[in-house]
Amino acid sequence: MVKRLSSYQQGEELIHRQIDVALGDRSYPIYVGRAMTASFAQTCAGHGIPDRIVIVTDTNIAPYYLQAFRKNLREFKFNVTSIVIPPGERQKSLRQANAIFTEMLKSGVGRRSAVVALGGGVIGDLSGFVAATYQRGLSLVQVPTTLLAQVDSSIGGKVAVNHPLGKNMIGAFHQPKFVWTDTDCLRTLPKREIICGIGEIVKYGLIFDAGFFAYLESNLERLLDLDPETVLHVQTRCSELKAEITSKDERETGIRTVLNLGHTVGHALEAAGHFQLLKHGEAVLLGMMAESYIAREMGLIHDDAHDRIVQLIRRIPVKFRRGDVRSSDVLRLMSHDKKSIAGKKRFVLPIRIGEVQVVEDVDHSLIRASLSDILRVNRSD
Ligand SMILES: NC(=O)c1ccc[n+]([C@@H]2O[C@H](COP(=O)([O-])OP(=O)(O)OC[C@H]3O[C@@H](n4cnc5c(N)ncnc54)[C@H](O)[C@@H]3O)[C@@H](O)[C@H]2O)c1
Ligand SMILES: [Zn+2]
Repeated sequence: MVKRLSSYQQGEELIHRQIDVALGDRSYPIYVGRAMTASFAQTCAGHGIPDRIVIVTDTNIAPYYLQAFRKNLREFKFNVTSIVIPPGERQKSLRQANAIFTEMLKSGVGRRSAVVALGGGVIGDLSGFVAATYQRGLSLVQVPTTLLAQVDSSIGGKVAVNHPLGKNMIGAFHQPKFVWTDTDCLRTLPKREIICGIGEIVKYGLIFDAGFFAYLESNLERLLDLDPETVLHVQTRCSELKAEITSKDERETGIRTVLNLGHTVGHALEAAGHFQLLKHGEAVLLGMMAESYIAREMGLIHDDAHDRIVQLIRRIPVKFRRGDVRSSDVLRLMSHDKKSIAGKKRFVLPIRIGEVQVVEDVDHSLIRASLSDILRVNRSD
């Protein structure tokens, strides 16, 4: 459900929407808009966030946004501690979580405190994990600053750190008190990170909503250029879809698994590139092409729909050179994925634009052929 809020003007027009995640007594709103920082503290107070706040962010984000949040919170008499860590996926570790625990203990952060995760998915997952476990759990506010975090990772309560033996292996479900999505943050985000966010956005259209997929076909360039109306529409629709699926299956025991479209192949592509050649969202884009190829070969999706999927994804400038990733590595890594059931690889495959099906029996040779297809299609030389 989307509500238009009557918010006050602050120079520039404030477009402000609210999408609710319905989870009984753990329900919470996602606020989407622009130029929102000035009303953050007031919103915290309105949600009963404790006076003691720990902001966790990284060294890329802090210079742009930390000061404004601190100032706004202090004006409202919040007692603020800031913890600034280095950027990057490697920080999503027990070691970094422990360093944050130490800093919180030394600063005397008690149980009546809240964690504000100011950053992308790495900060959201890591500080969400800290909030879930520190002194048996603190309140959490998600302030996503990347497109991927705004449309996906800040919503739904999945928080985790990585283990040397696997990504997101140590974690919890810990829902935030609210999500604060200010699209102005995207202006400072590198282009490659915008592309990563678009990976998850295309995924939503392909899984749930043919109309939204068609909107992306018509508005892709506007989205890449961060046209404000387009960004707002996309944020709202994706937040709504993520909110709906979270409400239906909070702990991913059923329907929420469809969100793994593009991820079965994508995770293996990421790992085969040692998490350096391809970023998560880029790998998901390629993964969706491969999975659409598999679906077409299995007779599950029409050629026309498959062509539309491939054409849309190929318009997104993912940098990927011949020989960067080897099919044999991807195949090997797929057999280790934690989402296999009894050794069988589970695939979420598109069966038309806006609808997917979970399939457990996919022929090995088909997977191999799909990889040759995407690795060939994306050769830039
Ligand atoms: N919990 C979930 O449901 C969920 C869902 C999807 C992904 N994830 C996780 O999200 C992580 C990826 O998140 P991400 O793509 O946001 O990457 P990220 O958090 O690493 O951020 C990408 C880069 O952008 C920088 N940055 C962030 N915001 C900025 C801004 N406004 N301006 C300038 N620079 C900025 C960061 O410092 C970083 O270098 C992965 O660890 C993935 O596992 C979690
Ligand atoms: Zn993802």
